Amino acid sequence: MKIVIGCDQGALELKEHVKEVLSEFKDITVEDVGTYNTDSVDYPDIAEKVCSKITSGQADRGIALCGTGIGISIACNKIKGIRAALCHNVFTARMSRQHNNANVLSMGGRDISFGPASEIVRVWVTEKFLGGRHERRVNKITALENGQ
Ligand code: RB5
Repeated sequence: MKIVIGCDQGALELKEHVKEVLSEFKDITVEDVGTYNTDSVDYPDIAEKVCSKITSGQADRGIALCGTGIGISIACNKIKGIRAALCHNVFTARMSRQHNNANVLSMGGRDISFGPASEIVRVWVTEKFLGGRHERRVNKITALENGQ
């Protein structure tokens, strides 16, 4: 699985930590689309960089980080085909995969500490979508996206 990761200046250290956690998984490759320093950037630009890798098929899933995780997850969810989940704990991370088939994980670098973030990432990359009734609901999200 290829994972694209990006952050704004509010989550630079969290991004580096998440990359370390992802390196535990031998079947995961990571592409880092920035930002790479503490200069101020606009999180919608990072959301676009992360999500375009997914919608173009260059990555399977993404991790999009900002100070709170709120702005970047909102921005990601404006992009067709993206289901970004802002997760604060292992439960929401698990549900976002099992029930919502989330293809982007968001967290807040100014919100979450490295310990819980590590657990969230490990769960999020390993949990599978359950399908069934959840697939019907996710298909309805897609229909909303298509104006149906
Ligand atoms: C940047 O200062 C901050 O607004 C951003 O990282 C994020 O928290 C927005 O939702």
